[in-house]
Amino acid sequence: MSTTMIDQHPAWQALREHADTMRDIHLATLFREPGRYPDFSRRAAGLMLDLSKQRWRHETLDKLLDLARAAGVPEAIARLLAGERVNISEDRPALHTALRLPAEARLVVDGEDVVPAVHATLDRMAHIVEQCHAGQWRGATGKAVTDVVNLGVGGSDLGPLMVSHALADYRPRDIHPLEVHFASTMDGSQLADYLTRFNPETTLFVLSSKSFTTVDTLSNARTAQDWLMSHLVNGDGDRDLVQRQHFIGVSASPEKMSEWGIAERNQLEFWEWVGGRYSLWGAIGLPIALAVGMDNFRALLAGAHAMDRHFAEAELESNLPVLLALAGIWNNNFLDIRAHSILPYDGRLEFFASYLEQLEMESNGKSVTNHGELTRYSTCPVLWGQLGPNAQHAFYQLLHQGTQAVECDFIAPMRRYDRVEDEATRRHLKNQHRLTLANCFAQSRVLMLGDEAIDDDGPRPSHKRYRGNQPSTTVLLERLTPETLGSLIALYEHKVFVQATIWDINPFDQWGVELGKKIATQTERVLASREGVEALDESSRGLIEAVWEAESR
Ligand code: F6P
Repeated sequence: MSTTMIDQHPAWQALREHADTMRDIHLATLFREPGRYPDFSRRAAGLMLDLSKQRWRHETLDKLLDLARAAGVPEAIARLLAGERVNISEDRPALHTALRLPAEARLVVDGEDVVPAVHATLDRMAHIVEQCHAGQWRGATGKAVTDVVNLGVGGSDLGPLMVSHALADYRPRDIHPLEVHFASTMDGSQLADYLTRFNPETTLFVLSSKSFTTVDTLSNARTAQDWLMSHLVNGDGDRDLVQRQHFIGVSASPEKMSEWGIAERNQLEFWEWVGGRYSLWGAIGLPIALAVGMDNFRALLAGAHAMDRHFAEAELESNLPVLLALAGIWNNNFLDIRAHSILPYDGRLEFFASYLEQLEMESNGKSVTNHGELTRYSTCPVLWGQLGPNAQHAFYQLLHQGTQAVECDFIAPMRRYDRVEDEATRRHLKNQHRLTLANCFAQSRVLMLGDEAIDDDGPRPSHKRYRGNQPSTTVLLERLTPETLGSLIALYEHKVFVQATIWDINPFDQWGVELGKKIATQTERVLASREGVEALDESSRGLIEAVWEAESR
């Protein structure tokens, strides 16, 4: 059945016509109109969003808001937060927001209030954290655990990795020494390194996998298990002890955890209604809680909840996630800007771009609508990023003088280092922070104005000219704290949802990754058995035979 796609709606058509009048207007020209900064910047939940460097005017935003209403964004937000089955291809709700509801809240899904179970899991996490921090979680030989290794990939790795790194300043000091590490790659690179350095007696593995079938994680887990057993087991009985003292499982499948041998008391469960890339807020966040303590983990949840409330309650025109989403839609669908760079100016956000790459591209990298039709418009842009100051010395050349139009998000804390105790160090570090902010603001300014940013714009050869006109958003955090980080992540989660609503796609499934997994299993069989290679295409055959030949040398 053919349905009317959003690009046929008058609101979309109006934007298309409007884009024709805007396309040739340079950002420098737009900035000759006063009042852009107050008009296009908004604050909520500890964040400040400056959208004035987008290539739009009031009229543009009004039309985009009409589009959001036409696409049913307000109703979709209400459905998402109420726990309706918004993930239609998998027929389930997407309730990451329930993971950060306060204990006194109520959210009934399929006749059951989910909040008590959410908080029961948080309490179990708190108990594990308490034991580890008190030096009471002991390995099989009785020594307290000193290293925790999270084995997981995708959503079961990137969220905890990104947040633990971002909040490293919040590591509790008065605890038994404990380091948290992450191993994700199926080739075993990270794990192999840990196994040469860590003491098996004091190493605890957290097996994080929503499905508990992901080969990347299970192959790392098997290697870790063999390593422990070969070092710690003397008699038969010890195997159970090692299994019990050195493995925690986090999954939506308790049966599979049990099959693998995770002791029941070491199983932390979450639910099918939490998507993998939206899962850091519950049991998958255990490594975060171990790294920064349960109080800080709960503060992260509170920050995200503050953004959830803003998302639910604010009018569309002052709703941060909605505005961020509309800027992306405007660039992508109307100005043909299909590359998006994420540029944090804070070393603690080193893994933020990788995290958003999964969040945005696995969620909205889709080309079929919720009605099963191919979209006629473009959806998720190519999104990538790196720490801004380092990227300045790597790919900013392309941003300034390349041929691609790119939208950028600059992210920075307004205040940093003012709590460093030593006075001289504090002064130097605060200067470094100021330098970093200056670079952040300078880059977005040059990207916007191009040559006009230069006071003395005398004659210059063309290779020294700057085109400018690259749109950007700047997100400022008061400070980088558990609360503001929670709010920042929730901002992007909701942005993704709003865009998906407008594009009429499902941001909560990821069928596109399934075929690759299936073919990999078949390919591994061929590689190992040396049978069936003739049925493959010429390139795959050539590559496999080259490996066999190398192995025989
Ligand atoms: O292959 C993609 C994916 O399913 C992601 O969506 C998910 O975050 C990741 O793999 C890990 O999955 P799991 O948590 O089930 O091991």
